[in-house]
Amino acid sequence: EKGGYDHFMLKEIYEQPRSIHDCMRGRINLEDQLVSLGGILEYKDQIVNANRIIFVACGTSWHAGLVGEYLFEELARTPVEVEYASEFRYRNPVINEGDVVIAISQSGETADTLAAIELAKSKGALIVGICNVVGSSISRATHCGSYTHAGPEIGVASTKAFTAQVTVLTLMALMIGREKDTISNERFTRLLIDLHNIPDKVESVLKSDAKIQHIADIYKDAPNALYLGRGINFPVALEGALKLKEISYIHAEGYPAAEMKHGPIALIDEEMPTVVIATKDASYEKVVSNIQEVKARKGKVIAIVTKGDSVVSGIADHVVEIPKTDDLLVPLIATIPLQLLSYHIAVMRGCNVDQPRNLAKSVTVE
Ligand code: M6R
Repeated sequence: EKGGYDHFMLKEIYEQPRSIHDCMRGRINLEDQLVSLGGILEYKDQIVNANRIIFVACGTSWHAGLVGEYLFEELARTPVEVEYASEFRYRNPVINEGDVVIAISQSGETADTLAAIELAKSKGALIVGICNVVGSSISRATHCGSYTHAGPEIGVASTKAFTAQVTVLTLMALMIGREKDTISNERFTRLLIDLHNIPDKVESVLKSDAKIQHIADIYKDAPNALYLGRGINFPVALEGALKLKEISYIHAEGYPAAEMKHGPIALIDEEMPTVVIATKDASYEKVVSNIQEVKARKGKVIAIVTKGDSVVSGIADHVVEIPKTDDLLVPLIATIPLQLLSYHIAVMRGCNVDQPRNLAKSVTVE
């Protein structure tokens, strides 16, 4: 059942070229330049014309929501808020007519997310679901939604569900942006092509596994780790840190790279590994200076860089190259090496990767 892999998590990491492909299947049409999401068609106008979109989710799904915030703001120009379902449900959130709530959940059974949906529904919001499990409680509680179609995810650490959630969010943002005319035709076309090529790029990143394993071996005994990213890759840093914490029990923090000097920089010494997403995008130069700041304090840097980068490789202790894609799609690729890094470290530390202590696959209690 693990398909020859040692753990479900590794199998699920390796399934991502296929799961991302499955998630897009029938939803993008390169010839006709169309994005169609059948499950939300009936409510399309309401979603396109939303005054505000509020994402509610927990854990990794909340990280997908944060990526969604960048995608929706950039492509659809819709104001977005991203809320922890557990906080949202106990506040007295302001929900107005014309607001749309998008609930993101792999299992579709997370108690806090379900309660957040019920609250928003009682205040009259339209509720859209992004779930992986067909027929789950959340998918039934929403007005409409788009499944992620990633296939069953068994490992407690969410991997392929995350990249599928981000894929669906990209498709939604493209669909809304197209309708609202907030994306140029050129950008729309380029994004469709780049999206179509993501599975092959993910496949090529998986080929760096041996190198990542080597890096894992060097840092497996670190007591702490810092993950940094900027812009749309800030949530990728959060997700990388969460993955390391939950399966290897190493304390890790994700931060927007620029926030480092407001506190976490105090932690940096020779022992401390910092994982940085330093791909060639709008914030590249700034991230390079953040890396220099870490190196000036003798920290160790593991950088995820764009293929062919020669600047960061001269400064960082280790680099993992990923193929170039549109800035907005980098999270789909940059996440992969971080998943592998956590996986290998956890295995080397003798941890139960698929069933980490104290954690359950679906958190059905609050
Ligand atoms: O099933 P859900 O997506 O609603 O689950 C939300 C979180 O419990 C989940 O993402 C959790 O953080 C994972 N263990 C992360 O790997």
